[in-house]
Amino acid sequence: MTLSAQEIQNNWLQFITTIEGHISSPRKEKLLKFYKKYEDRLIMMPASHKKEYHNAFPGGYIDHVNRVVNCALLQSDLWKQMGADMSTFTKEELVFSAINHDLGKMGDDTHESYLPQTDKWRKDKLGEDYMHNKEIAFAAVPDRGLFLLQQHDVKYTFNEMIAIQTHDGLYDSANEKYLKSYMPETKPRTSLPFILHQADMMAARIEFEKEWLPRFKNNLDTNKKNYTLSNNTKSTKSKALGTIKSEGLKNMLDNL
Ligand SMILES: [Fe+2]
Repeated sequence: MTLSAQEIQNNWLQFITTIEGHISSPRKEKLLKFYKKYEDRLIMMPASHKKEYHNAFPGGYIDHVNRVVNCALLQSDLWKQMGADMSTFTKEELVFSAINHDLGKMGDDTHESYLPQTDKWRKDKLGEDYMHNKEIAFAAVPDRGLFLLQQHDVKYTFNEMIAIQTHDGLYDSANEKYLKSYMPETKPRTSLPFILHQADMMAARIEFEKEWLPRFKNNLDTNKKNYTLSNNTKSTKSKALGTIKSEGLKNMLDNL
């Protein structure tokens, strides 16, 4: 999948508008200064290095982050409707966490994480259009993102720290200490981490569908036909079974 230059530009404007609309001063100005400083890097950055992962194309990162913000706001409404305690976090904390959840993917202050792939074999055979920059010391994405924020004097709340740290949910075993506790006192005291994780998962899944499902269209059509056929067979079978009085015979036919 590719984005046009106009779409990439519009995504960036939407990203900046989100900060302006949801983050309060003076943090808003610090965050805007940070993102304007790295605009050239972030605007074209992919969300991942490999075709098979989500949004691995120019502009994919901001496209993903905008989608996570939108999903997080909608997920939050759903949690509210279903009775979750929304007083344990603020809307600004929700949006701030969504905006910055994957920030660590950008690399450090001087080096980009994702470089264009130079190994033709890996590009062709493994779909790795990008490669990791070996000049950067290893850090997990949430750790690097939080480090970058504090390095640029952007403060974050305790809720935001835990939400960003655990946004991959239990896909990252490092989060078990927060999310797999069986003791009430050590469970998160807000639903924010769960809402952000669901929003991130939802966005990544939608990105996968947009990129990959059209390529499996024939399979899906076949499955659909099979589904319809099996439903019709089922309905014919249940009609036939309804006319049989013998329970034994019914059981026998039902198992066919
Ligand atoms: Fe993400």
